[in-house]
Amino acid sequence: MRVCVIGTGHVGLVTAVALAHLGHEVVGLDSDPERVATLRAGRAPFFEPGLDHLLAAGLASGRVAFTDDAAAAVPGAEVCFICVGTPPKASGQASLVAVERATRAVAHHATGPAVVVEKSTVPAGTAWRITRTIANERPELAGLLHVASNPEFLREGRAIEDTLSPDRILVGVEDAWAAARLRELYRPLTEQGYPYFETTIATAEIAKHACNAFLAMKISFANALARICEAAGADVTDVTAVMGADPRINPHFLAAGLGYGGFCFPKDVQAFERLAGELGYDFALLRAVAAANDDALHAVFAKIEHALWNLEDKRIALLGVAFKPDTDDVRFSPALRLAELLLAAGAEVVAYDPAALPNALAEQPALRSAPDPYAAAAGAHCVVLCTEWGELARLDLARLRAAVAYPILIDARNLLDPDEVVAAGFTVHGVGRPPREAAPPVEAFRREVDGTAVGAARMRLR
Ligand code: UDX
Repeated sequence: MRVCVIGTGHVGLVTAVALAHLGHEVVGLDSDPERVATLRAGRAPFFEPGLDHLLAAGLASGRVAFTDDAAAAVPGAEVCFICVGTPPKASGQASLVAVERATRAVAHHATGPAVVVEKSTVPAGTAWRITRTIANERPELAGLLHVASNPEFLREGRAIEDTLSPDRILVGVEDAWAAARLRELYRPLTEQGYPYFETTIATAEIAKHACNAFLAMKISFANALARICEAAGADVTDVTAVMGADPRINPHFLAAGLGYGGFCFPKDVQAFERLAGELGYDFALLRAVAAANDDALHAVFAKIEHALWNLEDKRIALLGVAFKPDTDDVRFSPALRLAELLLAAGAEVVAYDPAALPNALAEQPALRSAPDPYAAAAGAHCVVLCTEWGELARLDLARLRAAVAYPILIDARNLLDPDEVVAAGFTVHGVGRPPREAAPPVEAFRREVDGTAVGAARMRLR
């Protein structure tokens, strides 16, 4: 099928190359000519495992192409995906300006029947707006352009896998023609047995909100538990392991830490809460989810402050600035927010991240950066582990210990084995688990004991 994907951000680009991989002919349309040039040269504008490979394959086979010209991309497309950004406004509502622009471009350039699919995460009711916009722009096309909703569930860092081996495909449609076109589009996946949900548009839009809000709620539940565990001397990682053994709960998305970030959860929880309000329901639960998320971040900040007494004149090594591992994305990154709180409190922050440093420095120029974790830790009064990159899980703790000024490690993601960290000579503070004091170095301990009256008495006894 001929497909047009409008917007080549994370969702759009992954959708474009994945559909090309499935055998469709795809044109990616983006208003940014520089981005189009980068894509035509075979370079992905952001880091996503497997994306470069699919992009190269799509370009080589001629099944994927990119343009900034809607007049070249839209005519002839049977399906037009709208994958443009919906950034939050100051009010917390999603800004839908780009969605309207994309709709108008489709309406302006469409030549035949097509399905116009909203794939950006949008508030329920947006499909109706898209339909109205088409009717206003080109009333003669009103019966030819069929609006549908096809929310994506891809996670950054696993976007290709999530798209080509999806848990489910969700399609909201209101008419048989659009339903048939979208079934045909996804046939290569449904033939492999991936579940396909066909619902009304409103149901699809709400289902997408519900999934993200529920996952965010699980994380906030774990973070709230962490606070209680700290007060009770319990270990939240064990508590959530016990909970997760119940298949009704499952162990996923129960990791306490710095809280959730990224471009989806924070804005989607807020947008869903606002939407519920507009629809007449006070979704207080979602406000509590967002508040627990903020609280998780501030609790880690308080832990660092408590460990260091004053933050002025202190150097802090921040390991990981991406909002999660395997991405260079720092949008709404809790790690970056923590860095900003530390900087505002007068600390010097030296960050290391395997992929996200350029983006972090662009957003926060006061941050210093280091080429590896050990250079970041050089002379540091505290090491804070903020993102659970595999590389950081395999840190050489002895080397890290040798680099720091003070052996204090805040494991804000409960990534490391506390026994190993303590054995390397660090005092470690995790999240929702009791702090562990570093064992004093053995030689120093012996000297200390032998210098005392007890030591002298022992010597005599020997
Ligand atoms: C999310 C949804 O998972 C995806 O289905 C949707 O399409 C887009 O939003 P993404 O934003 O890529 O995907 O990240 P995700 O892996 O869900 O993680 C979100 C945040 O939650 C990260 O900051 C992560 O560190 C945090 N998180 C996740 C926790 O703090 N604890 C957990 O147990 C899981």
